[in-house]
Amino acid sequence: MALMLGLDIGTTGVKALAVRPDGAVAFESFSSCEISSPQPKWAEQNPEDWWRAFCRSTSQLLAAGLKPGEIAAVGLSGQMHSSVFLDSQLRVFRPAILWCDVRTTRQCREITERAGLDLLRNEASNPALEGFTAPKVLWLREHEPAHFEQLQHLLLAKDYIRFRLTGELATDFSDAAGTLLFDVGARKWSRRILSALNLDPAILPPVIASQQISGTITHHAAEETGLRAGTPVVGGGADNACAAVGAGIVEEGVAQASIGSSGVFLAALSSHRADEHMRLHCMNHAAPDMWYLMGVMLTAGLSLKWFKEAFCNEEAEQARREGRDVYDLLSESAASVPAGSEGLIFLPYLNGERTPHADSGARGLLCGLTLRHQKAHMVRAIMEGIAFGLRDSLELVRQLGIEVHEIILAGGGAKSPLWRQIQADVFGQPVRTLKVSDAAPFGAALLAGVGAGIFADCAQATLATVRKAEQVAPVPEHVRVYNDHYPLYKKLYALNRDVFHRLGTMT
Ligand code: XUL
Repeated sequence: MALMLGLDIGTTGVKALAVRPDGAVAFESFSSCEISSPQPKWAEQNPEDWWRAFCRSTSQLLAAGLKPGEIAAVGLSGQMHSSVFLDSQLRVFRPAILWCDVRTTRQCREITERAGLDLLRNEASNPALEGFTAPKVLWLREHEPAHFEQLQHLLLAKDYIRFRLTGELATDFSDAAGTLLFDVGARKWSRRILSALNLDPAILPPVIASQQISGTITHHAAEETGLRAGTPVVGGGADNACAAVGAGIVEEGVAQASIGSSGVFLAALSSHRADEHMRLHCMNHAAPDMWYLMGVMLTAGLSLKWFKEAFCNEEAEQARREGRDVYDLLSESAASVPAGSEGLIFLPYLNGERTPHADSGARGLLCGLTLRHQKAHMVRAIMEGIAFGLRDSLELVRQLGIEVHEIILAGGGAKSPLWRQIQADVFGQPVRTLKVSDAAPFGAALLAGVGAGIFADCAQATLATVRKAEQVAPVPEHVRVYNDHYPLYKKLYALNRDVFHRLGTMT
């Protein structure tokens, strides 16, 4: 039977799903990767580690019984913006600078000055923000000129894996959109932005559609991965675009709220409509001829992970003893606390924030602490703060006149019953989950299915495979509590902005 293989090159590791044409997941695996932060604000990974995690993931699938000959095609999804620098020999010469790295504030100012806001709005459809790719290239030029001299090819995370798999250099529309060097409306590299930044267009790869076959697995890569030489690899897409395909967000009016390392609120668009004030990103979808609006939180799931690692050794120990997931224990304890965490509000800006503040100097805050508050209150406040952050984006989408009639939850956050309820209550509208929570590799697998001819197009692929699970209705009493808390959440950033920035200059 034909299987579609989808792999997501994520920040915490590589997730692989082998999916049947009816949407059932036949095999899955995960192999982790570490982030290194050699200096404050930096976040880097070695592309070789992605490749090793990729090979571990495929060998786990094969050990579980997957037959390489059954794979009709491979689809790749990956963390957006993360920049891989290659020399003329196609060798990586420094670690990749990741989407969550915020060292490039100065370069963002430079880009805004050189290109001008109008050009950025009209072509990139996005402002210069630290996470995007272009500022990373300018940082390299300024701080590591010898490395910049070596730079001949610029790739994104999943495209580096494509290169290792097939030997081809290529990206797709949805990932190109995250570079700030792409004309999102016209779907081609922006000559005008490249020339304003004095960057050579030759460093950029050709751009193809997400379902288009970009090459086939080489004999060498087949030996390393255990996959079959000659297996087609499709264009694939940015993780958020693939997750949208995997969640069936392929028509206007449907949106996705996803809590992974980052938090993402994404609403599909049937035509190119950038936010005039560029508060939300506007990017190309992996579904053909579609775009999406997106708000991004830099430390959504990462905030809870930070709290767990800093303060929850006991719970981690208990989880080990009982063979349970520590996040399940934390979520259960938070469920014992009432909505609103008895007056505790968390600002989830542990590494600055993108949407809605575009402020790399923003900081985290736990406000309202009293002697009554316990660890469970803090966990719940963190979960609520992240949901408020997603609501910020939902409100912006609504302000742009897009009516969101359905919200699908995805990412690790959707696995917690409490977090699902909190999101329904904070959004004030019903939310739905999916049977498969790893929407990004699932979407990548569907794109592979379209490329292999299993489905006629993306719409047919999602119709045949995306299974929605339960609907969670908001609880009116909680909605009232959160509607009271949300204005305070918003006010806290405005009130503390200067303090955050002054603290930043002191450390
Ligand atoms: C989107 C973004 C993140 C990464 C996470 O702009 O930076 O969501 O794609 O992998």
